[in-house]
Formats: sequence, C-alpha cells, structure tokens
Amino acid sequence: MKQEMLILAGPASPRTAEHLAELTGAQLVKVEYKRFPDGESYIRLPVSVEGEEVVVVQTTYPEQDKRLVELLLMIETAKDLGAKSVTTVAPYLAYARQDRQFRDGEALSVKTVLRLIEAAGATKFVTVDIHKKESLSWLSIEGINVTAVELLSEHLKKQKLSNPVVIAPDVGAKWRAEKAAEILRGETVVLEKHRDRITGEIVTKGVEVDLRGRDVVIIDDLISTGGTIANAAKIAKKKGAGKVYVACTHALLIGAAMEKMVKAGVDEVIATDTVPSPVSVVGVAPAIAKVL
Ligand code: R5P
Repeated sequence: MKQEMLILAGPASPRTAEHLAELTGAQLVKVEYKRFPDGESYIRLPVSVEGEEVVVVQTTYPEQDKRLVELLLMIETAKDLGAKSVTTVAPYLAYARQDRQFRDGEALSVKTVLRLIEAAGATKFVTVDIHKKESLSWLSIEGINVTAVELLSEHLKKQKLSNPVVIAPDVGAKWRAEKAAEILRGETVVLEKHRDRITGEIVTKGVEVDLRGRDVVIIDDLISTGGTIANAAKIAKKKGAGKVYVACTHALLIGAAMEKMVKAGVDEVIATDTVPSPVSVVGVAPAIAKVL
C-alpha cells in the first residue's frame, strides 16, 4: 500500500475507489465522464498523472460494454499522459463466465476482455472472485484475484447460525464453501449442477444429508437469474434446513432473481459491493487494498 498512488475513481466505482483511498492514504481523483447524445462515452482525467503510480478503479456490471469501454478509455488515457504504472482494478469482471469454448465456434470472451485491458496499457490487473482464477493466465502482466469469502463469512458470523452447513451449489464453489465453513465452524455440502448450454436451464442433484435443525449458508461467486441458488435452497429445505442464508460476491440479481430465491426458501441474501444492489452490504476494498 503506497501513499503516493493516485486512485482514479471510474464512473461505476465511486465508493470502492473512495474506500481504497481511505485505506491506503492515496489521493482520490474522480474521473470526469459523460455520455454523448448518441450514447458514446467521454472520459477526462482532471489532474496530471505524469510520472504517477495510478490505480484505475472501475467495476463492470451491466451495462457491461459501456463500463468496459469507460475502463479502457481511462487506462489508455493514463498511459498516454505518462503514468508510471496503471494498476487496473475491476472488482467485478464482466464476461468472465465465458471462460471456455463450451460449444464449437464460441467466443472465449474472458480472454478478449483481459487482452483489451492489457493492450490499453494496464501494468497490473486486480479483480475479485473471478469466475475461474485460471483465466488470469491470459494476461502477460501480473493478474491478481482476491476473494471476498472471508469478508462475507465474517459478516455472516454475526448471525447466530445454528449448527451451520455451508452448501456449494456446484462443484466450482467447493473451495469457497470449504473456506466459509472453516470460518463459520460448520460442515460443507457440495451439490452437482448441470447447465444446458443452449437453453441456459439448470438441473441440480441433491445429496443424502439431514439438515433438520441446522441453518444453511449457500455461497457462490455470483447471482444472475437466481436459478442456481433457488435450486440449492429447494434441496436444503427438502432436507429440513432451518434458516437459509445466501452469500455471494457479485449480486447481479437480474429480473426476478430475488423473488425466485425467496420463493425457494431463502431467508436472507448478502453480497459485496462489487455490484451495487439492495443486498450489497459488504465492502470489498479491504481485500483489494492489501494487493495494491
Ligand atoms: C456459475 O458457474 C456461477 O458460479 C454461478 O453459479 C452462476 O453464474 C449463477 O447464475 P444464475 O444465478 O443465473 O443461476
């Protein structure tokens, strides 16, 4: 953590940037931005960045493409204006779920997005709970993935969970559930999920476990439509679970996601502020500040 850094707050991340500046003692600069009448983005850095170690902070929740372009404009402008380094922080990295060619001919979106960030001039890249951390190997600059699992679990610890069980709604969330279970002093259950790559429909297989009298925490990297969590919650309820808490890093909460989860038996959802939402109650800046 270096005090002489300049933290450039992108239009999508004013609070995270402010929090990072408080935690690091670095100077906070609010980037000027507007949209032209045709929808194009305009960016202006209001201070000189020449010779400075700059940290650009911009999350990329919907509208993802706009946020990404704003991010790229900030990075390249900082580089063109002589910044010594341009650390790029995208707390939520859009397109990260398309990290494989699931079907022939598909775009490997995460690769394209990461390569664009590097090509614009980023000298180091930081994100939070990227869908798969292996994706960062598409970068030739340093790429760091920090996790919010500890922050989320510490927050949940304040609830008096009864004999908790932490559920991973799919195999990809196993490590996350194990880490949370360690902090919450609970057990872990891993469900098996299959997604139809054409319709997007998901099927989740339950496991033989008795959850009677036990509170459940379902943990995942992100909630989009809420289908993954709803399936897991239904299984937990069928097995007799008491209260059902949900913790995720990125609460995209598209459409009726919240209603879907509540209908499935979810009592409370908490998330970080990588994506703003009514449930984004945990700030991720402390985890990011450690790696700047
Ligand atoms: C998938 O691998 C992710 O980790 C999430 O489980 C998934 O993207 C959540 O999407 P949805 O809320 O639409 O089920």
